[in-house]
Amino acid sequence: MSPDTHPPLDLVSPAREHLPPDPAEERLAALYDVGGPGTRHVRVNMVSSVDGAAWGPDHRSGSINDAADFRVFRVLRALADVVVVGAGTARAERYPVLDRPDGLEHLGGGAPLELALVTRSGTLPTSVLDGARRPWVVTGRGGAGPAADAVGADRVIEVPGPAGDGDVDLVAAFDALAERGLTRVLSEGGPTLLATMLAADVVDELCVTTTPELVGAGPARIVSGPGPVGASSAPPVPATLGHLLVAPASGTLVARWEVRRAAPGATLP
Ligand SMILES: NC(=O)c1ccc[n+]([C@@H]2O[C@H](COP(=O)([O-])OP(=O)(O)OC[C@H]3O[C@@H](n4cnc5c(N)ncnc54)[C@H](OP(=O)(O)O)[C@@H]3O)[C@@H](O)[C@H]2O)c1
Repeated sequence: MSPDTHPPLDLVSPAREHLPPDPAEERLAALYDVGGPGTRHVRVNMVSSVDGAAWGPDHRSGSINDAADFRVFRVLRALADVVVVGAGTARAERYPVLDRPDGLEHLGGGAPLELALVTRSGTLPTSVLDGARRPWVVTGRGGAGPAADAVGADRVIEVPGPAGDGDVDLVAAFDALAERGLTRVLSEGGPTLLATMLAADVVDELCVTTTPELVGAGPARIVSGPGPVGASSAPPVPATLGHLLVAPASGTLVARWEVRRAAPGATLP
């Protein structure tokens, strides 16, 4: 970016209204509300360090999040019909089958919070198989057999993509979840899944918490994939700031971005 091609812009402090801790989190829930049951919305929630790391020294995002991030994380789970994660995240973070966060059950409209894993291989961590409810598994042709052995064929959403055995058609995947009444989607990553979701143009909203620390070289950023380092062949996708919350005590920044999606056949400016 060349400074002389960008006229100077006004800057505004975000510290306008306080949202003190509230056991029922009514005001935070109103800020993140996307509509009642049946509303189709795909939200992704990720955390990053100031220097862009998606995980900390223990290879888990849990070591870079903090109390401010956790407040919003709980509310987003409470408002969702289904949490969608890549199998890599489920394995690294040992995901259990989920329940709505304690004290926030009233935000979910009475339905249980579902978990859906996206996998090519169909290899699931045992942690998701321990609970009374079974997760959904979204997979391609190659993963369907192993997934069905683990969770039962009725919980497998087989949506093969065009690129071969393990490929998953993410547009068809979110359609299939919606057909099952799971329309308010919260994806909790990880970076590989987010890269493929952005490439498939299925993301409506990206929530990113920036926690006040620097991790150093090593970890991936919140969007990651097998492409060559330093290169991206696709033009940047515009994002519009929905809101930015600041935790004054820590400096944590909690942003909600609308991701501009291309209308079918249209080219983004
Ligand atoms: N900073 C954050 O907010 C955040 C959030 C989540 C996770 N993380 C961290 O990220 C790390 C894991 O990174 P990751 O990139 O490996 O996570 P990931 O995207 O959850 O996992 C990658 C695996 O998920 C499956 N997968 C993802 N996208 C797929 C697609 N489009 N189609 C089919 N399968 C798909 C594949 O599973 P199979 O191998 O089974 O085929 C793939 O190997 C962990 O350290 C975790 O703590 C950070």
